Order: sequence, then C-alpha cells, then structure tokens
Amino acid sequence: MMAADQPMHGVPPSLSAKVVGSFAYLTVKDRLPTILTKVIDTIHRNKNKFFEEYGEEGITAEKQTISLLSKMRNELQTDKPVLALTDGLKDIDSWNQYLQRQQGVQGDQESVSWFKSPWLYVECYMYRRIQEAVWLNPPINDYDVFNEGKTQSFFESQQAVMTLCTYLEGVNKNMEETSKSQLLEHFNKLLKVSLWGNKCDLSISSGQDNSQKTSPIDSLNSLEPFILVDDSNMVWSTLISAQQQEQSGKTTSGRVDIVLDNAGFELVTDLVLADFLVASGLASEIHFHGKSFPWFVSDVTANDFQWTIKQTMAANHKWMSKSGVQWQSYLKEGVWSYHDHPFWTLPHEFYDMAADAPDLYATLQSADLVLFKGDLNYRKLTGDREWDHTVGFDTALRGFGPAPLCSLRTLKANIQVGLQPGQAMKLSSQDPDWMTSGKYAVVQFYSPNSEQ
Ligand code: F6P
Ligand code: MG
Repeated sequence: MMAADQPMHGVPPSLSAKVVGSFAYLTVKDRLPTILTKVIDTIHRNKNKFFEEYGEEGITAEKQTISLLSKMRNELQTDKPVLALTDGLKDIDSWNQYLQRQQGVQGDQESVSWFKSPWLYVECYMYRRIQEAVWLNPPINDYDVFNEGKTQSFFESQQAVMTLCTYLEGVNKNMEETSKSQLLEHFNKLLKVSLWGNKCDLSISSGQDNSQKTSPIDSLNSLEPFILVDDSNMVWSTLISAQQQEQSGKTTSGRVDIVLDNAGFELVTDLVLADFLVASGLASEIHFHGKSFPWFVSDVTANDFQWTIKQTMAANHKWMSKSGVQWQSYLKEGVWSYHDHPFWTLPHEFYDMAADAPDLYATLQSADLVLFKGDLNYRKLTGDREWDHTVGFDTALRGFGPAPLCSLRTLKANIQVGLQPGQAMKLSSQDPDWMTSGKYAVVQFYSPNSEQ
C-alpha cells in the first residue's frame, strides 16, 4: 500500500487528508524518466562546449555526470529504495532527515522506494539528485541542465513580452491621471496575466515548447470562465489597507513578496506585475523568492532572474528595453530584491516552514502580502493531499499563514480545495482532465488577520 494512507509528519490527524500517492505512480514511472533522459541528452550534446571550456577535465566530468544520472534513472525505473544524499551541500541534513522521517512513516527502510513514496517527495528528490550528480563533478558543477529550455521559452515568447511591455508603458505613462477604478482594472488585468503566465511551465510538458504566442492581454476575457476561484478583490483590499497616510500627507504602501515559479514568459508577467504595483503606489517594496539550484525544469534561479532582466534591457524594442532598464534600477535602488532560501528546494510542505525554516517564516511575516506562483507551490501550501474539493483553503493550509497570502495557480496536479459543492463533479463530467491540463486556474486568498 502506498504511503498515501499515512498522515504526514507533525500534522494533527484532525487536519489531515491522504497524501497524494496513486497518481504519483504514473507520473513517477512515465514523466520523470523522460525528464531524466532529456537531462542526460543535454549534457551529452554539450560535450564539445565542456571540452572547449575545460579540456579533458570537462569531458571526464561530462562522462561521470551522465553515469550518475543513468544510475539514478535505473534506480527509478526498477523501483529501488530512495538513497541518502552524499554531496555535502548545505541542505543535505534536511534532505536525509526527511528521508528518515519517511522511513519512520512507512515502517521500514526498503519501502521508501521511487514508486511507493509520496509523489511530492520523489519528484523533488529527483531534481535534488540531478543537482548532486552535477555538483559532484567539477569543473561543470555549476552547469544548469535546464538552461537551454528556459532561454528558448523566453525567446519564443518575445512577441507576447513586447505586447505586455507596451501595455505596461501605456498604464505607467498615465498613472497620474488614473482614477481608482481604472487602477483596479489595470490591477485585475496584470494579476490575471501573471496567473495565466503559469500555464507556460516546462515540467508539465517534460521540457517541450510551452511558450506564450498570443497577446496575453487580449486573451484575458476568453480565459475568465476557466478561473474556478477568484479572490482578486481580497488581494486588492489587502494592498489598499497596507497603505498608510504619513503626517506629511504622503502615502506609503506595503511590501509584497512574490514566491516565483517559472522562468521564461511567466517570469516576465511577474516582473510586469511587480513594476505596476510599485509604479501605482500599491506597493513600495517587492521581494522576489527564487530557487537556489535548477528545479522542476523551468523554475527561476538567480541566474535566470538576472539574465531575463538583462535580455529585456537589451531588446530591440523601445518599451521592452525601457521596462528592463526600469527593473534593473529598481534592483539597484533596493525597491526590488531577489532572495533564495534552501527551503524552497526541499520536499517539505509549507506547513513545516515555521519549524524547519523559522528564518524564512519570519522573513515572510514582514510582508504585507505574499503571492505564491504556480502549481508546485499550491501542492506545498495544501500538503499535496487528497482533500475533498469543498474543504476551505484555510483548512488545507493547516495554520500556515505568515502573512496574507494568495496562490496564483493553473491546475496541473490532482489537488484542488475551496470549490463550491457540486462544482468539481460538474467539471469532472465536462472535462475529466480539469485538474491536470493547466487549462483551469485559481486566485485563492487567505489572511491570518481575519482569523478570530
Ligand atoms: O505536472 C507536472 C508537474 O511537474 C507537477 O508535478 C508540478 O506540480 C508542476 O508540473 C509544476 O508546475 P509549476 O511550474 O506550475 O509549479
Ligand atoms: Mg515550475
């Protein structure tokens, strides 16, 4: 029997639901080896590049990395036990302790195998093992095996990026004369663009092209019926109530943290939203949170973040390059800042954050609003459990709430809470893949301040 039957570490049984397991079997068996094969192929294709940069040492490192990855693919495909990490990186104790916890939950060491463990855990573990294989092999140890796909997805979305930056310029240019209702309209549009930007991730397509080709603003109306829960108005109210009138009459506003998901077009939508929030005075500071190593194929690392801004600055398009220049100066002035923390690349659900990463939890507590982008963050927010669809988002969070928060997510995994009675059944009969196709989305809000 799968570990899916077990409540997870530290979670009070009354607030527990089964960990997603059965769906995992197919994903682990089919999708993960495809991703691994692509990674192996990418490294092999770059053999000459490694030789040019590092000579024979580069070739030896390429061979050894491929050998470690092939070994892992074999372990995966033959359902071998999940092994402890050995690379000595600073998150290693957290990973190995987590494995021990799993062994405790499942009863014996052997049973913590690729097919018999919770999906969230093995999926995260595979990306960490890829990092281990690369890291153990200098001089190619900082090579990003997913870089090619991420840059390609950015370039393939160029037209959409230009449209978006042109729209942003129009909004920002007239900001002084903008009424509150117009501001709300722009806010709604850019929040939704950032939401739908999450359609463009590469792990759902096992690395195949998934870029944005149409105008993101023009598509919004036709996408509206696919938003299953829309708490945008609460996000707006949170931003407005964080604004304070100073004695001088000047209004200061709050800090928004954006827990980023994918590079490529999605990241641009997040940067555009962040730009609008600052330019409109809805926020005075933005903290971006990214990953500290390549993760889930397309997730943003510090390198992707810098690269995207540089490419935007260098674009041969007036409004796109203007946006890039503005973003760079926000970073320089400290209005924007980029952060990464090892917790974001652990398999832990966010319920564990207060105990396992108290420094990160405390950081998020200083935000006025935290936006969590994407599907994986939603899985971690809700503990990747088979919740009944009508269970409240607050219940599924089980006390995680460092600050008012909102999930902007297109549905790619078998978890969804906070629906109306009957809504899920209707969706299942109309569209059996509604939870995994990326066609539907939610804007789901929770505030610890509204709890009594
Ligand atoms: O569906 C495959 C998958 O890798 C999920 O496991 C994961 O939740 C999702 O894709 C990643 O999506 P996102 O980039 O939106 O977090
Ligand atoms: Mg992602």
